[in-house]
Amino acid sequence: MDQLNQVLGLAISEIADINSLHDLEQLKARYVGKQGAITAFMQKLKDIAPEERKAFGAEVNKIKTSFEEVLNNKKDELVAKELAAKLANETIDVSLDGRGIERGSLHPVSLTLDRLVKLFAQLGFAVADGPEIETDYYNFKALNIPDNHPARAMQDTFYTESGNVLRTHTSPIQIRYAEKRTPPIKIIAPGRVFRVDMDATHSPMFHQMELLWIDKGISFANLKAVIIEFMRKFFEDDSLQVRFRASFFPFTEPSAEIDIYFAKTGKWLEVGGCGMVHPNVLNYMNISSEEYSGFAFGFGIDRLAMLKYEITDLRLMFENDLDFLRQFKGC
Ligand code: FA5
Ligand code: MG
Repeated sequence: MDQLNQVLGLAISEIADINSLHDLEQLKARYVGKQGAITAFMQKLKDIAPEERKAFGAEVNKIKTSFEEVLNNKKDELVAKELAAKLANETIDVSLDGRGIERGSLHPVSLTLDRLVKLFAQLGFAVADGPEIETDYYNFKALNIPDNHPARAMQDTFYTESGNVLRTHTSPIQIRYAEKRTPPIKIIAPGRVFRVDMDATHSPMFHQMELLWIDKGISFANLKAVIIEFMRKFFEDDSLQVRFRASFFPFTEPSAEIDIYFAKTGKWLEVGGCGMVHPNVLNYMNISSEEYSGFAFGFGIDRLAMLKYEITDLRLMFENDLDFLRQFKGC
């Protein structure tokens, strides 16, 4: 009996020193677990004389009950303490400043595209589009670029395993749109295009916009008027110099490349190509070249965005650098 009371006394003083639920669990195991100190007394019952057994058993149970009472009180105390600590830890100070969730802004290419669509709407152009994975027919053949034509090498092409191409320009949209319609046709066609090409002014994915205007009596004068008017409106500069430099495209004849002059840098910069739609191409469009004529114009949207916003490296457009992109807020 004395030993029993000693064990209880020890247990109570140990419990008093415990600071965590984990340690308390371990202590519990040491006293009332399978090999616990109090459990050991239960196992001694069988060695005790039968006439003392009942009283001893009752005493062990009393000690065990006392132990559990002290233990449970401690447990309640620790649970309350841990909860209080957790709450203190997770307290929200509603008087602190917010984290300032930023509003996003449009990408310079999107800003430019929006401006372009608005400008051309004012000049009476509707918007058309087409697929980014194109057939050889629409990307090349119907644009008067037959198999083995050297012009295919002008644009380094990504081919798909099925023998299609990632469109190298927006010109295939001309064919897709015009083959199903009769003039007058007056469209712009913006979109992503792809070429094996990569440096400060070339990117493997970039954006072009195509213009196509076919009607009776359309001439090179119309082409020049539309392009010059558009460039001056886009750059908000009524005296912007636009240069038409003789060039070659299989789908236009005559053809020209368009440069604009940047007074800031004193340099001419190529922004696109244009020309009168080739009679062979009108044929592929099922349009009579006797009755109708037209012009086409294709330019790089990213290039225009670079010039407009004075961006010196095209690759910045596609790196998703937030410090770069934030500068276009409110543009
Ligand atoms: C063409 O793609 C012709 N389809 C344009 C055209 C349309 C001519 C209609 C006649 C009639 P070109 O390959 O030159 O042409 O590309 C046109 C413009 O796209 C270039 O002037 C340039 O502004 C832009 N560009 C070309 N390659 C890249 C590139 N890798 N990265 C960014 N912009 C590019
Ligand atoms: Mg070119």
